[in-house]
Amino acid sequence: MIEPSINLLRHQFDNDPSRPRYHFLPPANWMNDPNGLIQWNGRYHLFYQHNPDAAFHANMNWGHAVSDDLIHWQDLPIALSPSPDSVDEGGIFSGCAVNHDGVPTIFYTGVSSDYEVQVQCVATGDADLITWTKHAKNPVIADVPAEAQQTTEFRDPFVWQEGDTWLMAVGSQIRDVGGAVFLFQSTDALNWEYLHPLYVSEDAALGEVWECPNFFKLGDKWVLIVSSNTDDVTGDVIYFVGDYQEHRFIAEKQGTLDWAYLYAPLTIEDDQGRRLLWAWLREGRSVEAHTEAGWAGVQCFPRVLSLNEHHNLITSPATEIESIRQTILSEDNVVLTDNTSLSVRGLSLDIEAEFVLEETGKISIKLACSEDGQIATVIEYDATTQMLNINRDLASNIPADDTYAHRVNHALMSDENLSLRILLDGSVLEVIVNGRTSVTSRIYPTDFDHNYLHVTGQDATATQINIFEVPSIWS
Ligand code: FRU
Repeated sequence: MIEPSINLLRHQFDNDPSRPRYHFLPPANWMNDPNGLIQWNGRYHLFYQHNPDAAFHANMNWGHAVSDDLIHWQDLPIALSPSPDSVDEGGIFSGCAVNHDGVPTIFYTGVSSDYEVQVQCVATGDADLITWTKHAKNPVIADVPAEAQQTTEFRDPFVWQEGDTWLMAVGSQIRDVGGAVFLFQSTDALNWEYLHPLYVSEDAALGEVWECPNFFKLGDKWVLIVSSNTDDVTGDVIYFVGDYQEHRFIAEKQGTLDWAYLYAPLTIEDDQGRRLLWAWLREGRSVEAHTEAGWAGVQCFPRVLSLNEHHNLITSPATEIESIRQTILSEDNVVLTDNTSLSVRGLSLDIEAEFVLEETGKISIKLACSEDGQIATVIEYDATTQMLNINRDLASNIPADDTYAHRVNHALMSDENLSLRILLDGSVLEVIVNGRTSVTSRIYPTDFDHNYLHVTGQDATATQINIFEVPSIWS
């Protein structure tokens, strides 16, 4: 059933130091959004936006992989492809999957060749979720609600069930007003009736069009997540926390899920009751560079979501990673100076560190660094300015498209230590600070020698620092 050639495809990249080893990505070519996440008979199924023919965005199919442990993945055949002369002839855009009375059911957006017509479609799967059949009634939603004021942006269905009723949130906009999520309902998941907007924003800073909505209950609150290319004051992935009454969302609080390259997340609740999130990590190199490399796009390591007492969204990598990582450094109570040398080597690392900073305290973690320090990425936190800074001036030795620094305010609460979680994996750099500030970046040192890491600081103590090497999940 699995073509052996799929696995062979992966090995052509063994000598590419930018290619992640423990983050999921397809065997080759292009990937963007996670799609259709579903746990089925205990196994995690991940579908994804995929161009199977080249490492750039075109010809969207749904790629497919399955995992028993959230770490190791088995590639499966492509689940959905565009059908010529149909409503999805231009591509199978993003969507979700649900268990509809025992039938695996995908909702996706079908697009025309010029992407100007976007409609919502259904497909059903066999018992193993391998073969998918598009429904004869497609499209199940053909019309954009009138109040959208004639936008053509209408995509990424997110479906859930309330009692006997199915609800579908679709990402869109109200032209000249702002991003919008429209809500539909159905009793059979086929015939859909438009209700009203689930939520609309009039804040231009939050982007004109909202993509990939997620809507779910977390603890005693409701969370809405949307993705939008914003003016970067807010970050591109916004979350709202609030209430849900009479099928309308009432936002009470707004935050930024990630400040850099993480985009278009999709979440599911698994059988342990965890709300898990995957998201596309965009490339920071030029289209030419990733086309030539033969691969583009990575998923973040799956994260678990929760809310803290202030209703900030907290993310942390799923604890499953602990079962494969191996300790290479573990220290506590190290007083940091400019000369402290807490140093290790490694290209695929998981770092957990906690610091106590005086008012004038600073810490610096230099990683993916050459022996002579000429290539390095520097993660710094300064207690005086309360700024986290990820400096990428010297991070890459290919002509990267983006080398700007990520500078994000991160205020510590009184008596709160600075807690850093860093996942480094080839070109992927996920940085999560105290669970609530996430900056996911990309860096491109291009040979295996850029593997030094040094921790220094001033007026600061590393109360605990654990560094783990994470092996390849494909070996
Ligand atoms: C988000 C997105 C979605 C769309 C898909 C197309 O990255 O633009 O809105 O469905 O990607 O690949």
